[in-house]
Amino acid sequence: MAVTLVEELASVVGAANVLDDPTDVTGHVSDWTGRFHGRTRAVVRPGDTAEVAAVLGVCHRHTVPVVPQGGNSGLVAGAVPLAGEVVLSLRRLASLGPVDEWSGQVTVGAGVTLGALQRHVDDAGLAFGVDLGARDTATIGGMVATNAGGMHVLRHGAMRSQVVGIEAVLADGRIASHLGGLVKDNTGYDLAGLLCGSEGTLAVVTAVRLRLVPRQQHRVTALIGLPSIDAAMATMAGLRGPVPSLEAVELFFDEGVALVCDHLDLPPPFDPPTSTYLLVEAASHLDPTDELGRAIAGLVGDAPVAVAATTARRAALWRYREAHTEVLNLVGPPIKLDVTLSPSAMPAFPPEVRRRVVAVAPDAATYLFGHAADGNLHVNVVGAEVDEAPLVEEAVLGLVAELGGSISSEHGIGTVKRRFLHLNRSPVEIEVFRALKAALDPTGILNPGVLLPPSG
Ligand code: MLT
Ligand code: ZN
Repeated sequence: MAVTLVEELASVVGAANVLDDPTDVTGHVSDWTGRFHGRTRAVVRPGDTAEVAAVLGVCHRHTVPVVPQGGNSGLVAGAVPLAGEVVLSLRRLASLGPVDEWSGQVTVGAGVTLGALQRHVDDAGLAFGVDLGARDTATIGGMVATNAGGMHVLRHGAMRSQVVGIEAVLADGRIASHLGGLVKDNTGYDLAGLLCGSEGTLAVVTAVRLRLVPRQQHRVTALIGLPSIDAAMATMAGLRGPVPSLEAVELFFDEGVALVCDHLDLPPPFDPPTSTYLLVEAASHLDPTDELGRAIAGLVGDAPVAVAATTARRAALWRYREAHTEVLNLVGPPIKLDVTLSPSAMPAFPPEVRRRVVAVAPDAATYLFGHAADGNLHVNVVGAEVDEAPLVEEAVLGLVAELGGSISSEHGIGTVKRRFLHLNRSPVEIEVFRALKAALDPTGILNPGVLLPPSG
């Protein structure tokens, strides 16, 4: 009797690690927002790199498409099996290597969550340079694959800046490993850099060597109420020079705060409320409170400011910003479009994007928030009809392109934005992308519905 694919995969990872019962795969076939739903013949859960290699060997032999998946907290449907692909879950690759205090580095498995990594390196007196709200779900492998950004890009850069070595399995099951962590290592192409942001289309990341940053002993957070986005951007710019310990500058608006307060039963941050909010955080080995306080006072005059230095009070201020994602999902699911604009284009964007959204989806509401210092705005549209969603995407991303911005700041292209890649990438660049894909994944089994626009 012929061996089925599921049986062949089970012979590699054990039957308990191949899920094919519809109730067992539920959490793997829809995205976090609940907007995208797929189906799969199997979710395979290898326990180490050798098993990942063997699984891909099987899939390659049978030309079976595979969607690699970490915490499944991505926001562009880049890890959802929309066309019935096999799901390759990397969550069991959760090894935490010893922290090397001499180099300030650590090697971890792709399935380690950001939160677990943070706790692990904290024990050694170090920190990781990237932080984001989904820290307890997002995995390091997924964050590498999407080149995740988050709140601290201003100080430490995005994931690509943290990766000093990588281990990945190619589509045919061969393993490419370069985890030595030598900072000066000019020995050819930067495969680690290439795989950052490749969204599972070129190879499957199984382990990463990461650089760590000093853990700052003092941390202070301030929430500033401002009259406009112009004032917020001017304040952000004014803080950058005088406050070298600046680590985060987050931007959000009154309608998002009202929604958060309403759903979480929180008091409004200021009375009377302001139209625009800037949440800034500074961290240093010396207490940065005075430095930050002086700089803010010199920039915003008598605008309302709340300052917090204790963990609990800081968390209370952050809640107004971080809760946007969960609360919008309660109202949604939202159409989530994550974009970058140059600082000079930022002020014109909010009114114009709202105008263009309402023109194609009259009952929709647009919420904006993001990372001011990176020019990164998260455009969340709720209340659009299903058939209006493509028009909303077109309207928002078209405006971003007109303003010279990026259609993907930190979430990736996924399946959602692949038809818009040409807005940011020239035909020659897309040809290079296709050539890389063909070289590394000649049969096209790795995340085939993601990143590259449909050909032809
Ligand atoms: C954030 O900055 O909160 C994340 O990118 C998640 C989101 O966009 O909702
Ligand atoms: Zn973000």
